[in-house]
Amino acid sequence: MRIGLYGGAFDPIHNGHVSVIRGVLDSGLADIVIVIPSARNPFKPGRSLTCAPYRYYMVKDVIEDLFSDKVYVSDIEFWIEGLSYTDSIVDKVTDTSYMTRFLMDCGFSAKKAGSSHDYFWIAGSDSLKTLYSWHNAGALVSKIDFLMAIRPGDNISSEDVIRLNRDKLGLPVNITTFDIDGINIASSGIRASANFDEVPEKAKAFIKQHDLYNAQQILADASEETCKHFVEVGIWMYGHLKKKRLLHTLNTGLLSAYLAKCHGGDIDKALIAGAVHDCAKELPVEEQAKLARIRSGNLFTEEKLLHSPAGAVFYADAFDVDDTEILDAITYHTTGRGDMTLLDKIVFLADKIEPSRTYTDLSLMRKLAPSDLDGAVKLCLESVLDKFRKKGRPVHPLTEDFMKSLGMN
Ligand SMILES: [Fe+2]
Ligand SMILES: [Fe+2]
Repeated sequence: MRIGLYGGAFDPIHNGHVSVIRGVLDSGLADIVIVIPSARNPFKPGRSLTCAPYRYYMVKDVIEDLFSDKVYVSDIEFWIEGLSYTDSIVDKVTDTSYMTRFLMDCGFSAKKAGSSHDYFWIAGSDSLKTLYSWHNAGALVSKIDFLMAIRPGDNISSEDVIRLNRDKLGLPVNITTFDIDGINIASSGIRASANFDEVPEKAKAFIKQHDLYNAQQILADASEETCKHFVEVGIWMYGHLKKKRLLHTLNTGLLSAYLAKCHGGDIDKALIAGAVHDCAKELPVEEQAKLARIRSGNLFTEEKLLHSPAGAVFYADAFDVDDTEILDAITYHTTGRGDMTLLDKIVFLADKIEPSRTYTDLSLMRKLAPSDLDGAVKLCLESVLDKFRKKGRPVHPLTEDFMKSLGMN
């Protein structure tokens, strides 16, 4: 098959991206397109790029909605260590065993998936004009050909771009053009204006569900180092959590950071503690129990609670972290404890009211949280305890201590 590879940040995916995909399929230059959202972007530091799992799942929602076949989304970038450039992505994605498995997962027969394929890198004329300056450009042009999207009015031909790059690189460059419609938009403009008119419906719904670009703004108040760490924990947890829980735990991090800002807490610690609080929840129960014992002995025995102390150990081991405040906030996010710190309370609450939560009417808790943290926490505890009573579930002694500390019975 002729396979078009379309990489990018997709922050957010918009109708311009969709028109490129439609254009290349309509041109007949590619049989299928594989969309590859970046995990880390070497040109955009952590602060300015939405954490990878959000962008990956947003792209996947849109592609599955708009294309019933011929277009697929690859998570290959999650599995590349460190910064990835087009050159390294092409190497990984065109690896025969990777592509065979990927195509079979997409529903192709083993015979078709395993046959030899021709690969093309899809890009717009603006970026291909400076192809010669891409990382390892010489090696890249010798291993893949390019498909260049041309908008109406684009005053450039493939010959111009080929000549420019060939002269700079001293190597042959293969570029074929295809036409797309006139949409001329950029993700950066969409983010800056918060105008999502040119964003496909499924992406709009995703952005709304996770309050995505509002929540992202909180990163402006976090340190550069923490923002990069947030990206890394997002990529790490992609390998350990399914979509819904992963997005929930990341949402909790962003809301925790916001609440820390509102209440004079540590934004950096809140972002990370919230973001990883459920990292161990999909580990096998025996593994959770083992990690929980390391952290808290036999304090947590109920199966549903194990992931809290286990998460602290799982995260600490993966990133060599020993920050007691962060690890405690993770440990007590389910039960609370008698002497809850500001960070503990923030993560406890954010976990229950982050934007994608819909289990009960959370509007009052959400309204109170930025100004009256204890008031919101009390409401939250009442609602949790109500559920416990209805299910006949016992209240943990640590939760009783937590309630007492808030003057609740
Ligand atoms: Fe949890
Ligand atoms: Fe949670």
